Amino acid sequence: MKLLKDRILKDGKSFDGGILKVDSFINHQMDPILMKSIGVEFVRRFGNMPINKVITIEASGIAPAIMLGYLLELPVVFVKKAKPKTMGNMITTQVYSFTKDTTYDVCVSSDFLTPDDTVVFIDDFLANGHAAIGVKDLVDKSGAKLAGMGFIIEKSFQEGGKRLRDLNIHVESLVRIKSLGTNRIEFED
Ligand code: G4P
Ligand code: NA
Ligand code: NA
Repeated sequence: MKLLKDRILKDGKSFDGGILKVDSFINHQMDPILMKSIGVEFVRRFGNMPINKVITIEASGIAPAIMLGYLLELPVVFVKKAKPKTMGNMITTQVYSFTKDTTYDVCVSSDFLTPDDTVVFIDDFLANGHAAIGVKDLVDKSGAKLAGMGFIIEKSFQEGGKRLRDLNIHVESLVRIKSLGTNRIEFED
């Protein structure tokens, strides 16, 4: 997606250790015009699949997910990162955090993810893929079907893409980054 590549080159900040900061337009301040274009591109990639719901995980997945849900006129469910004690019917799993070397609980209500659902999962980054695999586990536990997973940015030098594709998950990434260094961003072709 050329528009997105150009914006990453213009406003993204890359650091040693393979971190890309996009917090001026994606995950802190957000550009809704770009986010709409991202939604349109996800429609192009997933719109012909028999999905009835979009799923994402808080916080940074919500903006692209709601754009896709808006365009397809489908509900959007976001997985929560802590277990709310006030709610019943929660499906829960644990996600490993590479950055913090710890695990945390994520959950979704079985009222909103059911065996009648076929979902597409949307998130901002695909890095190591632990969050995505956690969501896959929630989908499996709920009895819903997973049609595919869409990411704004895949860092293909990390393991997540391979992990998900090895699980036979249909993965669509709008841009794939081969390597990152200080002030150096290299995309896959
Ligand atoms: P992973 O295994 O799920 O890929 O995640 P990892 O523990 O490696 O990363 C933890 C968090 O860092 C995730 O956000 C992920 O989206 C984000 N992340 C990974 N690589 C980058 C990067 O290069 N740049 C930026 N800006 N973020 C990155 P989170 O904390 O789970 O969620 P959120 O609340 O920010 O959405
Ligand atoms: Na995220
Ligand atoms: Na993030």
